[in-house]
Amino acid sequence: MDTKTTVISEAQLQQQFAFCDKIHAYWVDRDTTPKAYVETYGCQQNEADSEKLRGYLAMSGYTIISEAEGADVVVMNTCAIREHAEQRVFGNLGALTHTKRRHPAQKIFLCGCMAGETKVSDRIKKSYPFVDGVFSTHHLWQFPEILWNVLSRGKRQFYIEDEAGSIAEGIPQVRDNALKAWVSIMYGCNNFCTYCIVPYVRGRERSRKKEDILAECRELIAGGCKEITLLGQNVNSYGKDLEGNGDFSDLLADIAALDGEFLIRFMTSHPRDAGKKLFDTMAASPKIAKQLHLPFQSGSSRVLKAMNRHYDREKYLELVNYAKSVMPDLVLTSDVIVGFPGETEEEFEETISLIEQVHYDSLFTFIFSPRTGTPAASMDDPTSKEEKSRRFDRLCAVQNGISEQIHQNYIGKTMRCLVDGTDKDMLTARTEGGRLVRFAGNADLIGTYQSITITGATTWSLMGELTQ
Ligand code: SAH
Ligand code: SF4
Ligand code: F3S
Repeated sequence: MDTKTTVISEAQLQQQFAFCDKIHAYWVDRDTTPKAYVETYGCQQNEADSEKLRGYLAMSGYTIISEAEGADVVVMNTCAIREHAEQRVFGNLGALTHTKRRHPAQKIFLCGCMAGETKVSDRIKKSYPFVDGVFSTHHLWQFPEILWNVLSRGKRQFYIEDEAGSIAEGIPQVRDNALKAWVSIMYGCNNFCTYCIVPYVRGRERSRKKEDILAECRELIAGGCKEITLLGQNVNSYGKDLEGNGDFSDLLADIAALDGEFLIRFMTSHPRDAGKKLFDTMAASPKIAKQLHLPFQSGSSRVLKAMNRHYDREKYLELVNYAKSVMPDLVLTSDVIVGFPGETEEEFEETISLIEQVHYDSLFTFIFSPRTGTPAASMDDPTSKEEKSRRFDRLCAVQNGISEQIHQNYIGKTMRCLVDGTDKDMLTARTEGGRLVRFAGNADLIGTYQSITITGATTWSLMGELTQ
């Protein structure tokens, strides 16, 4: 495998735009406005990629619709993180045989992280003949070419060669939300946590240049965007592959220095690379949300070592304590895996004691899922499924108690929130820490920051009213 990042040139991108023009002309010839549907699985990185797929489709003349029925193009942007995620994709892919039977000209594509696994592309080749194209994340920038090849040659396309990964600036994007935007600042991952498939399907870490990121942020803010979430598998190692570009904290400070009323969020941070400079930078700027997603994965130092996480329980707690000391209102969330191969009852109890000690606002909890090709998939795993489920339920129960208690403490507080939408007859808003608040109000408040007093709370959300 090539280990160098491929930088996609302006000329290469222009070629793709020329394919968009050909596709457009193809439909004009047929006097048809074609429709496209993009289904997104997995994390925000995939959400951001889907905005680019939609951008290309819109440039090719497609109207974006919200279901597969009747679509001329269906793209499944998939996630490979756990077995369950893959099963869902295969199930939903199977269902597309019906939409394609009703609309035989429908072209079906599978991309995203699953497309980077040979076992998946082999299975599609053999058993899913109605899938017209498969392309890994490295080839997303070539989507117009792939689509054109399918339309013009009627032959299945597989763009799945393994490579270190590419960076392409300037792919058009159709964004989901005008108020809140995802901005990928880097791609790939070098960490190789022993349970995780991401480095295998998303390639090596590569950072976008700071000026490109700043230009995108400036444009978003000028267009009325109020919240920018910077994305990367490990944002704290941003810039390590670029010379003279500065690190992640420098990038945050530079974005925060842009004019305008907006908040910056980011994810995900890796405890190995996060440190005092980051937390001091966050504390110093009112434009950086006091919100941190800092996955710990396990409370046991032995398990963390087996996971190849490069920190131990003590280092993690030290980090969190420092972050809380400089940001007393910090909203802290995390990811945790139960049932990693060989995790003992005592080690699981260390995870429970860590969440009781840290007091997360909320947690994303997972049961270990073996991924083919990762080291953990071939580790001895004597713990039964039932026992893992029991640990999982206990973990969720403890965390739910903590989340509810933290939410109760919001009652009576007045907070500045971004009003971002509606839910039935209520408006929704987000606190600076990213907590969801429902309140009564006029829809013309959407897109503004308002002062809201919290009047009630559940495990998952808050109720409030506009402060008089
Ligand atoms: N880059 C991020 C996480 C990306 S994946 C980070 O390092 O924190 C999101 C979460 O899925 C991980 O934090 C982990 O908790 C979980 N996860 C990843 N692989 C998994 C697996 N094989 N089984 C169960 N959970 C897994
Ligand atoms: Fe996976 Fe670890 Fe990379 Fe996160 S840091 S994407 S968990 S390998
Ligand atoms: Fe899934 Fe890929 Fe994200 S595996 S979690 S969509 S990086």
